[in-house]
Amino acid sequence: MCGIVGYVGGQQAAPLLLEGLGRLEHRGYDSAGIAVLSTSKGLKVAKKAGRVRDLEAEMPKRFSGKIGIGHTRWATHGPANDVNAHPHVDAAGEVAVVHNGIIDNAAALRAELTGAGVELVSDTDTEVIAHLVARSTADTLEGRVSEALGRIEGTYGLAVLHAGFPDRIVVARNGSPLIIGVGDKEMHVASDLAALVRYTTTVVHLGDGEMATLTAGGYTTYREDLVATDRAAKKLDIDPASYDAGDHDSFMHKEMLEQPEAVERVLRGRLDERFGTSHLGGLNMDARDLRAVRRVKILGCGSAYYVGQMGAQLIEELARVPADAEAASEFRYRNPIVEPDTLYVAVSQSGETVDTLLAVQEIHRKGGRCIGLVNVVGSAIARECDGGIYLHAGPEVAVASTKALTTMYVGFALLALQLGRVRDLSIADGKRLVAGLQRLSGDLEKVLALEDELVDVAKRLSQAESMFFVGRVRGYPVAREGAQKLKEVTYRHAEAYQTSELKHGPLALIDKTVPTVAIVPEDELADRNVGALHEIAARGGPLVVITHPNVDLGDVADRVLRIDVPRNEVELDPILLTVPLQLLAYHAALHLERDIDKPRNLAKSVTVE
Ligand code: F6R
Repeated sequence: MCGIVGYVGGQQAAPLLLEGLGRLEHRGYDSAGIAVLSTSKGLKVAKKAGRVRDLEAEMPKRFSGKIGIGHTRWATHGPANDVNAHPHVDAAGEVAVVHNGIIDNAAALRAELTGAGVELVSDTDTEVIAHLVARSTADTLEGRVSEALGRIEGTYGLAVLHAGFPDRIVVARNGSPLIIGVGDKEMHVASDLAALVRYTTTVVHLGDGEMATLTAGGYTTYREDLVATDRAAKKLDIDPASYDAGDHDSFMHKEMLEQPEAVERVLRGRLDERFGTSHLGGLNMDARDLRAVRRVKILGCGSAYYVGQMGAQLIEELARVPADAEAASEFRYRNPIVEPDTLYVAVSQSGETVDTLLAVQEIHRKGGRCIGLVNVVGSAIARECDGGIYLHAGPEVAVASTKALTTMYVGFALLALQLGRVRDLSIADGKRLVAGLQRLSGDLEKVLALEDELVDVAKRLSQAESMFFVGRVRGYPVAREGAQKLKEVTYRHAEAYQTSELKHGPLALIDKTVPTVAIVPEDELADRNVGALHEIAARGGPLVVITHPNVDLGDVADRVLRIDVPRNEVELDPILLTVPLQLLAYHAALHLERDIDKPRNLAKSVTVE
């Protein structure tokens, strides 16, 4: 989605802004622009459809100024072209605005401004903000922005420059992330930490309804009615190098290989070997609260939703509490019944996915309790939730989520253990699971070592226009996630089905051009799974099977990939079987020469509905 950067200090702003925008490319965008301000030359704007490097190539030579803002746009109102790119300016060219989010009453404001004789040049909702700020007569820039915000309904993270106030950037947040970076006699702002960490790791996360003024000397925070909020800066414990791909050809590859260490981090200090349970201080729930939970409802989007399905199965198995997962994007639109004894769980890597955030708000509006499984510390969902489990996966830059999902699965296992151990899960079973989780990182290491074996199969799959991913019960969400990963990075059509459902319809599509990737764990359903695979093979459908060493497949499959690690606990199968599917998708995309980290039309965090 759209990205924002801003800088004020002693250095030339333009190169810093362009570098920052480059760091936001993974968020997904279709045009980019920057505005800088200098006391002698006033406000200058350069913007262009295409990549940041296209903008850079066409930057005017003289573009000096030590204060500026920049943006990568992901088109919502109007096509991706030079005019619709941000920053947007007022008629006099004095005010520049960059904005993430959506102004819901933009049409009414556009009509009002046009009626007042203002000529709007773009199709965007953002342009109205520049005109509203310009038309305000308040004494200060803060007052002008605050007045403009008073007219706006919708979501925003925004930054404003004004030639009449050349020492400051005024920023505001409502539903779209904005982080201030505190430097030495310089200040930064960005919508994502990735654009800040090279300059500073001392940051201020603005809250919704909050504004800030940045000058070279520091920052002040206040509410939209200009009452001070005095939000303090925090030093983050992150390694800026984790935002670089290092020796890898892509972040996706790097992040897949980081899964073993991510698992170690999410488990650190949380396993209780003695009592076969977990320690989750952040849940803010004691044994009695956990005992009172009658149902668990998991909400997430995309891959987070699929891991949520895996998590729901884990919770039902271990805690025997009814649990299910639902797409957060649908939840609030069906006037959901929110029950006091249901534990709602929002799951999100970014913590900024607006559909998930709005689902949490709906739960709260109706008096429910919602905990979060979130990777990004201090993100909107993490703050909105009543407690939760931070995933500690580290920064995930590739659009296709891998290591964060694995930590989500582990997060669900920790939660399931605790819900189980306050009920009927025996200490022996608890200890069995704890030991399994302790082995998980090493097992993942071994599964990742299958990479070379997968390359050929991936190449072959990449040639198919359409394919199926199938699995049953524990294997079904794995199939969904496998199909999702493949679609995202290869742009091939992949559909997930329950293996048992094939003969109820989709079998009609099977022929020699439509391969099937089947997930066949060594479990009580293995024989039935193999039976269904014969139905595919009998119709000439190419079959790739992901399975364990001891499953007898006869000669049904064209290719068999066996996860040849000592058998871990059956409850952990889903995550160990998901990793080969990540590798398959990655190598298929590599073979097709796709832009793996920045798939077309997709964004890392989806902050608009
Ligand atoms: C898939 C993917 C998306 C996200 C989804 C939710 O690889 O990355 O489907 O899982 O957009 O994002 P978060 O987890 O940030 O809420």
